[in-house]
Amino acid sequence: MRRMRRRDAGFSNKEILRKLKRAIAREVFDSSPHLRCLPDHPQPRPPSASSNTGSDATTPSPRTIAVGRSPHDTWQWTGRLSCVSDVFSEKLAAWRDYTRTPWARIRYGVVGDVLRRQTEQLGEQIRILDVGGGDGMDALPLALAGHDVTVVDPSEAWLGEAQRRAAAAGATIATVRAGLDDLPPGEWDLVMCHFVLRYRDGAADDIGALARRVRPGGRLSLMDVNPDGRVLRELLNGGPAAALEELKADRAKVETFRTSARKVSVETTMSEATAAGLTPIGIFGNRIANDLLVDNTSKHDPAFFEQLLALELELCDREPFNRVGFAWQLVLEHRATPRPGGAP
Ligand SMILES: C[S@@+](CC[C@H](N)C(=O)[O-])C[C@H]1O[C@@H](n2cnc3c(N)ncnc32)[C@H](O)[C@@H]1O
Repeated sequence: MRRMRRRDAGFSNKEILRKLKRAIAREVFDSSPHLRCLPDHPQPRPPSASSNTGSDATTPSPRTIAVGRSPHDTWQWTGRLSCVSDVFSEKLAAWRDYTRTPWARIRYGVVGDVLRRQTEQLGEQIRILDVGGGDGMDALPLALAGHDVTVVDPSEAWLGEAQRRAAAAGATIATVRAGLDDLPPGEWDLVMCHFVLRYRDGAADDIGALARRVRPGGRLSLMDVNPDGRVLRELLNGGPAAALEELKADRAKVETFRTSARKVSVETTMSEATAAGLTPIGIFGNRIANDLLVDNTSKHDPAFFEQLLALELELCDREPFNRVGFAWQLVLEHRATPRPGGAP
């Protein structure tokens, strides 16, 4: 501190304040092995859209990014990427291991079925935006079904993985390197944001930003870990003391990424989404039966797995089962504004 005062003797108050802010930011982000903040300056690399027409990866000037497949689906990216945690890029290998487990296959199987039902009601070859879509686990089946899918994610590594997986499956998905703070403008038939809200501090208008990307008549699918389901899981795996601790904890542990996250309930999310003008269509539970079965051994047996998946698909939209799973999925509709006088 003494050394800093001497060195800063020739600076104005404003400059000293700026230096202090930078030092604090360095302290916070450098001290945590899990948190990294992409600096505003120098500019981070621009979004690596599959059809990025720019050539200079470090130029901060606006550039045109293709979103979706049609040539008119373009937007100007300003070159500023919001601060994001890079814990995801660091733990991509651990995540890939998780996605191969039977319980992850249940998670994606059930969501795949719920989303398929939504798309059937929305039309053929619809436009889909997956915000924080990562390595494209939810997006790829939709692209394979012929939909026009764009994955938005701040992590270049995860987007690269999404592209690699799509190419291997013979599908096409567009990828845009961006986040909830700088979503591409436009409207989509179906917007998804799964397991991202919990990594946000809850202060920003994330639900509003997502709602504004849904065309009238379109749908939004939100998904996150169910805080109530975690209490039951702790009870089964660790006993009553562990369950009580989980119930009282301010934040939830995230094993795969070795970090913690905000607890996001479906009720709070639903009221935020309703305030943003959306109408709830359904709450779907995920990993309901799976998490009640503490012994994982039989889940690796294909015949048992099929039975478990069939049960999960039946339970996912039934009360009260849909409230006690590992995760919740909330589907909402952007109803076209009713005409004055009540005419449809
Ligand atoms: C747990 S993964 C979920 C990936 C995918 N949605 C799924 O459910 O399979 C969280 C994802 O959120 C992304 N992410 C982190 N910060 C974000 C932000 N500010 N906006 C959008 N996505 C973000 C991460 O890069 C990562 O791909």
